[in-house]
Amino acid sequence: MDYKNILLQRSGRVGVITLHRPEALNALNLGMMHDVVAAVGHLDADTDIGAIVITGSERAFAAGADIKEMASRSYMDMYAADWFGGWDALTQVRTPLIAAVAGYALGGGCELAMMCDFILAADTAKFGQPEINLGVIPGIGGSQRLTRAVGKSKAMDMILTGRTIGAEEAERSGLVSRVLPAAELMSQTLETAAAISKLPAPAAALAKESVNVAFETHLAAGIRFERRVFHSLFATKDQKEGMGAFIEKRPPSFLHQ
Ligand code: HXC
Repeated sequence: MDYKNILLQRSGRVGVITLHRPEALNALNLGMMHDVVAAVGHLDADTDIGAIVITGSERAFAAGADIKEMASRSYMDMYAADWFGGWDALTQVRTPLIAAVAGYALGGGCELAMMCDFILAADTAKFGQPEINLGVIPGIGGSQRLTRAVGKSKAMDMILTGRTIGAEEAERSGLVSRVLPAAELMSQTLETAAAISKLPAPAAALAKESVNVAFETHLAAGIRFERRVFHSLFATKDQKEGMGAFIEKRPPSFLHQ
């Protein structure tokens, strides 16, 4: 596949997508959306891939949706095209998806990072939902995912003022899972992704599905879902291998089946 807005690399069982529109701080235009969604779908369908990383440059993960592409559009243009609707495909991905963020993750950039399963941030990372300064609101799930991630007060503060928060505040608020020195962001992200990619793929896919159910349902239904999924994993070869290896005091050799 020929991608114009991203770079796609593989490292063992890890797929790495690098957003690449340096002239626009990786602003997310429609071409970028199509490339990211296609590349993630391609990697997700590949049983030799066990984790996917989405990253940007040192200066910007992504400085938002492409303002120049949207500025003159009408309501009907946006509605008829279901502008940004294509990004929803990322929520159906089974392979663990990690965002590695350095520099700006603003607007759609912050929203793309939040669509990943977790965010590793460089100490240079800056997160924000500044859409209010442009006369709009977040449009790729920001008002929903940010609120679930950091709670109402911080989400309201960020979305109503448009202010940007640094990596430390983002970690304190629960938006990112770890802050890393910028120089180590990619090496540590790849190490984490490689470790996940070697673990049983069926358990990884169902673990993320189960965590995601926590965002969409009430506690009793979520626990029932988890219990059924937990039972179902006893039908996998990797459960037999994982538990067998523990009992036999040897390293497991997973088949991802
Ligand atoms: C289009 C963008 C862009 C964007 C930066 N650029 N962000 N182009 N859309 N979101 C372009 C600039 O126009 C400029 O192009 C080049 O990238 C470098 O940016 P500068 O502004 O010169 O860099 P700097 O002075 O370092 O400032 C960095 C910045 C600033 C603070 C991140 O670029 C900025 O405020 N960007 C917009 C951030 C934003 O509002 N994001 C939310 C977008 S709305 P030229 O050609 O001049 O060199 C959004 C909505 C989501 O995401 C869904 C709801 C609609």
